[in-house]
Formats: sequence, structure tokens, C-alpha cells
Amino acid sequence: MKQLPPDTVRLLSSSQVITSVVNVVKELIENSLDAGASSIDVKLENFGLDRIEVRDNGQGIKAVDTPVMAVRHFTSKICRHEDLEHLETYGFRGEALGSICAVAEVAVTTKTEEDEISTQYTMDLTGKIVSQKPSHLGQGTTVSVMKLFKNLPVRRQCFSSTKKCKEELKKVQDLLMAYAIIKPELRLIFSLMQPLGVRLSLQMTFPLAENPLQFFIY
Ligand SMILES: Nc1ncnc2c1ncn2[C@@H]1O[C@H](COP(=O)(O)OP(=O)(O)O)[C@@H](O)[C@H]1O
Ligand SMILES: [Mg+2]
Repeated sequence: MKQLPPDTVRLLSSSQVITSVVNVVKELIENSLDAGASSIDVKLENFGLDRIEVRDNGQGIKAVDTPVMAVRHFTSKICRHEDLEHLETYGFRGEALGSICAVAEVAVTTKTEEDEISTQYTMDLTGKIVSQKPSHLGQGTTVSVMKLFKNLPVRRQCFSSTKKCKEELKKVQDLLMAYAIIKPELRLIFSLMQPLGVRLSLQMTFPLAENPLQFFIY
């Protein structure tokens, strides 16, 4: 027997954490909710395979935390295992962003109340920042996930047909609907951008008349 190289271990374990488009959307929405967001925009391009973007108006990520925000097992939510007894957040394992970086291209734009302007950070496969530049976005955090599973052909195959992609899209719609129901005060917008030629007929029904969940197809 031989021990697997660290890069392979990271890719394999990340692909256990991040398994699908809906799973990425769920992790990113939960991070936004943990950050106290009252407004969340979810955008998918080409069913999320080209780009998944979740933008919130939450508290943002402090400049001192940005170097480790996407490094696996770094979290701002707990410090020790006793904290698990009184969890008040969705996340606590510090695994989502790091795992997404291992299977896609990731950029995070963030601004806290104290920051004068927002900054966009680009991460490498290990979650370390490789570049950063000023951005015009307001307070909150935007996570962009491009080319999901670009280095995992087996996972990408699960989205090889339009039928499978549409099934995945339905799961994203159901997930957003679930958050819209449990958080009626949350402003939730879902936009889908499709390449020319892919026709979609989708409908979202709103169980709560006052719920501001909106849905667009471009
Ligand atoms: N949308 C966001 N708004 C504010 N902080 C965020 C956001 N997304 C991620 N973070 C920060 O990055 C850290 C790592 O996120 P993640 O990998 O999902 O792990 P976890 O949610 O388990 O802590 C979080 O603990 C949080 O401090
Ligand atoms: Mg999280």
C-alpha cells in the first residue's frame, strides 16, 4: 500500500463535501444567513456549471480573517468542541469554502462596516489567496464559484444531459423555496442565465403571498 499524495487527498475529501450544484448553493446561503444577511441573490449560469454566485448584505469578512477564510478547518463560528453544545449557526466545520476551492475556481468579494471599500480575492486550489483587487460592491459578501468540478470528470458527468441539469435545477428551486418559507422576512432572488439555445420553462410557486422570493430567467 501507498499513502496518497496530499493534493489527491484534498481533492477526494473535498468532493465528498461538495457533491452538486445544489449543495454549493446550500453552503453559500447558510454562510450568508450565518452572517446576518437580510437579502440574498443567487445566480446560476448554465445550470450552475459555469458559475454559481451568491451575494449577501451580511456583516462581511474582517480583513484579518480573509487570508484563512477559504482554508479548510478555519471557522469564525466555534473555537473548541464544547462550543458544539450551544451552536447558533448553520456552519461550524470550516469546510465549505475550502472544499469548493478544491473543485472549482473561487472568488470572494467582501466588505465589513469598518472597511472603506470592498475587496475581491481570488483563491487557489488550497484556499489560499492568490490575488486581490478593490471592488465597487457594498457591504456584505459575494462568493463566485466558476467551472464547478472542472478537475473531477466523474462528478461533471452527473450533469452531462439537459435532463439531469434540469433535475438539479429543480432541487435548487426547492431549496430556495424552503428557505423562503422558514425565513419569510428574507429577500431572496434567484436568477438563471442560460447559454443561447437552451430553452427552459420553469415556474416558481410562492406558498406565502407576502414572500419576496423572485425568479428570473435570462
Ligand atoms: N457570506 C459570508 N459572510 C461572512 N462571512 C463568511 C461568509 N462566507 C464565509 N464566511 C467566513 O468564512 C468562514 C469559513 O466558511 P465555511 O468554509 O463555510 O465554514 P463554516 O461556515 O463552517 O465556518 C466562516 O466561518 C465565516 O467566518
Ligand atoms: Mg459554512
